[in-house]
Amino acid sequence: MIVSLELPSEDHYRGFQDLALKKLGLSLGSGKGYLLQGRLQRRMSKLGLDDYGDYLRLISSDSGEEELQHFVNAITTTKTDFFREREHFDWLSQEIFPSIKQSHLESGRKKIRLWSAGCSSGQEAYSLGMIALDSFRDQLDSDIDLRILGTDVNTEALSIAQAGIYPSEAMSSLGDKPAAPYFRPMMLPEKRVSQAETALTKLIEFRKVNLIQKNYPIATKFDVILCRNVLYYFDPVPRQEVLERLSSYLIDGGWLVLSLTEIGYEVSGLTKVRGHLFRRDCR
Ligand SMILES: C[S@@+](CC[C@H](N)C(=O)[O-])C[C@H]1O[C@@H](n2cnc3c(N)ncnc32)[C@H](O)[C@@H]1O
Repeated sequence: MIVSLELPSEDHYRGFQDLALKKLGLSLGSGKGYLLQGRLQRRMSKLGLDDYGDYLRLISSDSGEEELQHFVNAITTTKTDFFREREHFDWLSQEIFPSIKQSHLESGRKKIRLWSAGCSSGQEAYSLGMIALDSFRDQLDSDIDLRILGTDVNTEALSIAQAGIYPSEAMSSLGDKPAAPYFRPMMLPEKRVSQAETALTKLIEFRKVNLIQKNYPIATKFDVILCRNVLYYFDPVPRQEVLERLSSYLIDGGWLVLSLTEIGYEVSGLTKVRGHLFRRDCR
C-alpha cells in the first residue's frame, strides 16, 4: 500500500531528532521535515502506516529493533565514490605507505592495518585496497600482513560493500585509475557491472559498527583510520566522543584522516598536522 505522508509535525520531528541523536549521534538539524518525509515514505508504506507517531512508537519499542535498522538505513546519508577526495589517496600512496614500509623494515613489524570508518557501500575501502596493493604487492606473501576494515551502521550499504559489485556509473569515479586488475566486468540481466577481484576482497573485511558504541568489537590498532564525511553529520558531543575513541585505536604515529572540509576539531593524544589530518603522539 502506498501511503501519502504529510510533513511531520514539530513534535514528531523532534521525536525523530531525539532518536537519531540517541541511536546514532546524528544531528538531524531543524526544518528538514521534507527530507524525513521523503526518506520514510517507502518504509511507512510497506508497513501501511500513515501516522509518524505510530512509526516512532514502533522503532522506539523493544519489539521494533528490526524496523529501527530500516529507519537507520533510511536516514543515513550514504553518498560516496571511489577515490573521493583524491588528494588523500595520492598522499597515502606517495608519502604514508612508503614511510610505513620504511619503518616496518627498521622495526620488523609486519602488520599494516587500515580502517574505513563509515565506509558506506565500500568504495572508500576498495580505493584503499587498490593503492595498498599497488604499494605492497611484492611483499604481501612474505613481509607484510595487510588488512583493511570497513565499517558502517547502514546494513544496506554494507551488503553492497560485501558483494563488491558496482554498476558502471559507479565505476566512472575511478577516473584515470584502470579498473583492471582490481575489478572485472560482468553482465547481469540488462545491466553491466564490475565485481571486485579476490586479490582485493581477501584484504578487506566489512562489519557493522555503530561509531557511538562505547566499545567497538575491534581488537587491533590501526596505522591509518579514514573517517571522512561521517562526523560532519554528528551532534558536537557524540562527535567529540567518537574522535577520542578513534584516537585510541591508532598505533603510535598512526594517522586519522577526516574529510577535507571537516576542520576545527581537536583530539587528545593527536597532533593536528593539517586542518583535517591528525597524527597519534607516542604514548
Ligand atoms: C556520506 S557517507 C561517507 C562515506 C565515505 N566515508 C566517503 O567519504 O565517501 C557517511 C556514512 O556514515 C555512516 N554513519 C552515519 N552514522 C554512523 C554511525 N553512528 N556509526 C557508523 N557509521 C555511521 C552512514 O551510514 C554513511 O554510510
